[in-house]
Amino acid sequence: MKIRILFFIFLVTLLTSAFIFYGFTANNYFIQQENSNKEYQHKNPLDGRIVFEQKGCINCHAIYGNGGNTAPDLGKHNFFESNYDLISEMWNHSAGMLNEMEVKNFNLQKFTAKDFRDLRIFLHYLRYLEVSGNVNAGEKLFAKMGCDNCHSIGKVSPNKIRLDKLGVHASPVYLAQEMWNHAVEMQKMQKTSNVRVPVFKDDEFADLSSYITAVSVYNKRQKIYMTPGNPISGEKIFSDKGCFYCHNEKHIGPDLMKVNLNKSVIEIAGLMWNHSAEMEQSVQKNEIAMPAFEGNEMADLISFLYFNNKSEIDGSAETGKQVVQDKGCINCHSTGNSYNAIDASAIGPFSSEDDFFSELWNHLPLMEKNLYLKGKSLSKLLPSEIKSLYLYFNSKKR
Ligand code: HEC
Ligand code: HEC
Ligand code: HEC
Ligand code: HEC
Repeated sequence: MKIRILFFIFLVTLLTSAFIFYGFTANNYFIQQENSNKEYQHKNPLDGRIVFEQKGCINCHAIYGNGGNTAPDLGKHNFFESNYDLISEMWNHSAGMLNEMEVKNFNLQKFTAKDFRDLRIFLHYLRYLEVSGNVNAGEKLFAKMGCDNCHSIGKVSPNKIRLDKLGVHASPVYLAQEMWNHAVEMQKMQKTSNVRVPVFKDDEFADLSSYITAVSVYNKRQKIYMTPGNPISGEKIFSDKGCFYCHNEKHIGPDLMKVNLNKSVIEIAGLMWNHSAEMEQSVQKNEIAMPAFEGNEMADLISFLYFNNKSEIDGSAETGKQVVQDKGCINCHSTGNSYNAIDASAIGPFSSEDDFFSELWNHLPLMEKNLYLKGKSLSKLLPSEIKSLYLYFNSKKR
């Protein structure tokens, strides 16, 4: 199948680019910890690619342009704020999906709880990986952002600080790290030179880094890599470097769990940079040291921020009970109904969230079809409502 081959090639390229940026040490990223419910300790976040292919999502959906084109691209979408977002999207779009399946003569494939979890983690992980930069775009940025007012690269210019030695570092995160470490000097020079220190958006660090690596006089040597980041080390860095002190203990900076960090590793690096001037001022005011990074520290820190940024959404068993009524579940899930659906009080308990999600998905066609025959469709469910339903179906006294 052509689509599958293309998708496979895409994944290989994606991973290779990850390998190019990073010396991918499997044990470092794919942390092998059993008995842990922290998702970033999942053994291999790429397992879910098999689910994406085997369950046929790939026939209609692409990820970053690779795959089918009759449904939204799942790489570009932000539905990872909580564990409940993906199932909520799938549920809410089920009418359109099932319709398309009918047209394509395609049967919905059943999920196990593990399938669902793998798929969720895979889609979430892809969002984190950085894209490869573009040298030409980077060259333009270097001028547009005014880096060339203070720096030179590839050639010696009087009074300019050379950046060539960065050329041996393959990862854009390294560039972000070096800039962060020198933020204080850059801010100072900005005051005396009338040149603005730039702010970053999107994947601009990747483009700049590609340019610097390409034109640096040192770029022919062996490259120095970073690893994609180990969230466990990152957690330690977060407390050791004073981030926890300002952001959690003293509330000098915003609670980072409330900041949307559902962004790629490079975008998060950009966000940190964009706030470096304010953080530096705050550091001075509070008489603590400005955190500096070496080795793989920034990548570790960012992976901690990213993988730990799932927001806690509201939900309760009581609300769940109400949702069963309000969203019409009770119309079918009540004793003696004509649909052969089990009574709501007998649904569950489920062994995990993903067990619940997979059951919902597996029964979608049946539910949808029954309603369709009556000219109705399923009510939409917010992530928080799905959470409430889960808590309700899992509560002992009902
Ligand atoms: C037969 C084609 C088809 C298959 C197979 C399919 N989908 Fe869809 N999907 C669609 C269509 C069409 C939509 C848009 C429906 C709408 O918005 O009305 C959609 C929407 C979605 C959305 C909401 C996206 C958004 O941006 O709002 C998610 C999430 C989703 N699908 C996940 C999946 C997953 C996961 C699988 C594999 C288990 C899958 N889909 C399989 C056709 C398909
Ligand atoms: C206002 C002047 C100014 C601007 C604009 C500026 N920098 Fe700097 N930059 C500095 C100064 C000053 C230093 C500190 C040099 C030192 O400590 O030796 C520095 C240091 C750096 C370093 C660390 C260099 C090293 O040797 O480790 C990097 C990387 C860097 N800048 C990249 C950039 C990039 C990329 C841009 C554009 C997006 C930029 N800078 C814009 C003034 C500036
Ligand atoms: C001295 C206190 C202080 C320390 C230490 C500190 N921060 Fe901050 N941080 C702040 C303040 C204050 C802001 C808000 C700045 C602003 O409004 O622009 C901020 C903003 C941020 C933001 C942007 C949040 C947003 O709203 O978009 C991020 C991300 C961030 N910090 C991460 C970190 C990390 C990671 C560390 C540890 C390496 C750290 N900070 C250390 C005070 C601190
Ligand atoms: C049009 C009728 C209908 C509606 C409305 C409906 N369901 Fe269902 N549901 C069914 C049928 C039929 C089954 C499959 C038979 C069974 O297992 O009970 C099913 C199965 C399920 C299952 C799997 C049960 C199991 O453990 O095997 C869950 C969970 C579920 N529904 C939840 C819901 C929720 C939550 C709602 C409301 C948001 C809802 N259903 C609305 C008809 C419906």
